[in-house]
Amino acid sequence: MPRKQTKAAPPVAATTAATNAPLSIVILAAGQGKRMQSDIPKVLQPLAGMPMLAHLLGLAARLTPASIHVVYGHGGERVRELFDDGRLRWSLQSKQLGTGDALRQAMPEIPDAHQVLVLYGDVPLLLADTLRGLIAHSSVRSVALLTARLVDASGYGRVVRDARGRLQRIVEECDANARQRLIHEVSTGVMVASARLLKAWLARLKPRNAQHEYYLTDIVGMAVQQKLRIATVEATDAAEVQGVNDRLQLALAEAEYRRRRARQLMANGVTLIDPARIDLRGPITVGRDVLLDVNVVLEGPVVLADGVRIGPNCVLRNVAVGARTVLFANCVLQDAQIGSDCQIGPFTRMRPSVRIADGVHLGNFVEIKNSDIGAGSKVNHLSYVGDSQVGSAVNVGAGSITCNYDGANKWRTEIGDGAFIGSGAMLVAPVKIGNGATIGAGSTITENAPADKLTLARSRQVTLEQWQRPRKHPPKS
Ligand code: UD1
Ligand code: CA
Repeated sequence: MPRKQTKAAPPVAATTAATNAPLSIVILAAGQGKRMQSDIPKVLQPLAGMPMLAHLLGLAARLTPASIHVVYGHGGERVRELFDDGRLRWSLQSKQLGTGDALRQAMPEIPDAHQVLVLYGDVPLLLADTLRGLIAHSSVRSVALLTARLVDASGYGRVVRDARGRLQRIVEECDANARQRLIHEVSTGVMVASARLLKAWLARLKPRNAQHEYYLTDIVGMAVQQKLRIATVEATDAAEVQGVNDRLQLALAEAEYRRRRARQLMANGVTLIDPARIDLRGPITVGRDVLLDVNVVLEGPVVLADGVRIGPNCVLRNVAVGARTVLFANCVLQDAQIGSDCQIGPFTRMRPSVRIADGVHLGNFVEIKNSDIGAGSKVNHLSYVGDSQVGSAVNVGAGSITCNYDGANKWRTEIGDGAFIGSGAMLVAPVKIGNGATIGAGSTITENAPADKLTLARSRQVTLEQWQRPRKHPPKS
């Protein structure tokens, strides 16, 4: 039987292009994931900051099927609570008796006339185009199976063929003999078959194997015995089909995800100083000629406009950055909107709800929280601005602090346009500084300061003419 290669097929609506039958997708997610050594169900282990199951649900949704079913089990209530949106269909597998038994739980919900795409909850990096290719090769009379050639096939079910290359069956590693273990062609477990055939095959599964489980993969041998034509579609990218069974494979999947996102960014005109030293999670939208230096972590949603430059070791979560803004090294920013042509950092920290207008400079060890900073303002060194409304063209001197918390409540500070806050000022909120006001360095401001005036609140400097330094007593003899 000729092996068919994956081809990108046009988007499939609620039917499978090859068969015109409605498509149902079943995600097997009930396994315990023992090899993870974790209290968290395996499908909730985070990959790129999202539970593994979220990746599969996103993938399934992209195929716009008639229905999506999740088989849950171990710790499954948590899984269901997290993802139950009223549209997913849930089937409980109360005992983890194998992948065949898992699929059996969902089948009563699926009409015989549907084609069923089976996905494994621990194979999270599959691409929609690969699945479209598999669906395009499926038929109502048989099985289409996604396979791969792996340099290291250990742990996977092997594809056993006869001398003429015809598929015979899938053998799980623990049931395989020494010869079969040398086979590099593996089953990914991902398959498409008609619901009618699947129901008949699943009813006949026997747990006669080393693990005493009902193997879904045994249906391939059953189809062969019925002389049905089985299409194998080989995934062109082996990394795409890797299963995640333990922490090492989780880290490998994370690395693959990172590589994939890095490649996408570079294709969109982003310079990555080192594509291997970057972490990208969640939705990220990037303009042209953006530069990301090493060890940048972007947790989406992140939007970087044209010409943004981000220095080493910056962490951005839910941040939008305007055109040409530069972030110097070691900035940690969360829930912030930053305008264009700003200079931020090094070592600037933004905590939730920050809005920075255009042309703002924020410098070393400056922390901004729940504040708006107006256009062209500067907070350059060692300051804390919290719960504040800062106008445009304001200059906040080194070491100034908005004292926003009285130990019980938070209060707001307002600083008008063009104000100049001298170094080391303490602005004790609630307080307003008028437009164009100047606050003398070292002042502790507890009342509103009027516009365009110098306000000082510090004791006057004195010099004591008669004062002498104490001297040491002479030693007693
Ligand atoms: C399975 C395949 C193997 C394939 C490999 C690809 C079988 C018998 N073996 O092996 O051929 O090469 O995946 O990654 O199918 N699950 C349940 N209920 C169960 C058991 C498993 O829902 O009772 C779910 C798990 O949550 C997991 C998936 O099925 O998402 C696969 O189970 P796992 O035990 O990891 O199978 P593998 O040994 O990796
Ligand atoms: Ca697995």
